[in-house]
Amino acid sequence: EENDSNRKVLLMGKNGAGKTSMRSIIFANFLPKDTMRLGFTIAINESRIRFLGTLCLALWDCGGQDHFMQHYFESQRDTLFRSVQVLIYVFDIKSDDQRDMKYYKSCVEAIKEHSPTARIFVLIHKMDLIPLEKRSETYSKKEREVYQNSENLSVVCFATSIWDETLYLAWSKIVNYMIPNSEMLSQSLKKFCVACEADEVVLFEKSTFLVISSYSAKEHRDTHRFEKISNIIKLFKLSCSKAAARFKSMTVANSNFCAFIDEFTSSTYIMLVSSDSSVQPALTQMNIGIAKKHFE
Ligand code: GTP
Repeated sequence: EENDSNRKVLLMGKNGAGKTSMRSIIFANFLPKDTMRLGFTIAINESRIRFLGTLCLALWDCGGQDHFMQHYFESQRDTLFRSVQVLIYVFDIKSDDQRDMKYYKSCVEAIKEHSPTARIFVLIHKMDLIPLEKRSETYSKKEREVYQNSENLSVVCFATSIWDETLYLAWSKIVNYMIPNSEMLSQSLKKFCVACEADEVVLFEKSTFLVISSYSAKEHRDTHRFEKISNIIKLFKLSCSKAAARFKSMTVANSNFCAFIDEFTSSTYIMLVSSDSSVQPALTQMNIGIAKKHFE
């Protein structure tokens, strides 16, 4: 069998669903509004994305126009759906085109046949276009329909939009699935958090700012808080680079808490949150410096 590094991530879905938009925001530093100018993808756009130093994602963005779709399920079927590690299927929540579910079902069948161990993620996308009070109901309905067409394979669904942190949440989960020894990483992070007497420690991947791992010593109500930070810092980094400055670190503090974000290993940023005002910033920075070597 081919090893994981040769296996691909298929990004599929009908034309206009938002595949290239999300790929460009997460991996190519596009702002959400920049995606309005994107043209449709012709056939398949293959990119190799370096991630966390050693991980390489072979991301295949498959143009969704009908004539391309037909090729995927006919002449290209055996090659396209072979050696797939992850299938990401994107639905535009606003589209009620019947072909969309049919295409999804065909993808699942082809995956089942050619890459039975592949993991399937479904992004129910453009949720921002649904009025807030209808979102949860609209999402659940689509999700049910997806499960019914998934051939009993285990599928994970997310509600997403390029206009908020949900995009980061979904892609963090997808990428985390592909990171080897993520369990070990989270154990080390926990030890570090306890040693620093911090409330929370989060690792972000350097270029995408996706959450790689996190540990919280305290419970929190807002379960999307790290992805909100991903989104905010990514936008901040982009505005820094427009001003020809480079984002390096940030400290946010008031009388209740203190949060540091700083470069960590060569491929990560770390964030440390502490509500103990007796913890000296300099000490925390020193601890981060010492831990670096261990994580590199
Ligand atoms: P093909 O290349 O034809 O397969 O399409 P695609 O799936 O790559 O779609 P693309 O990324 O080109 O996006 C089409 C349009 O949808 C663009 O104008 C985006 O700005 C818009 N779009 C993408 N994501 C969202 C979203 O979350 N919300 C809203 N409102 N619009 C979005």
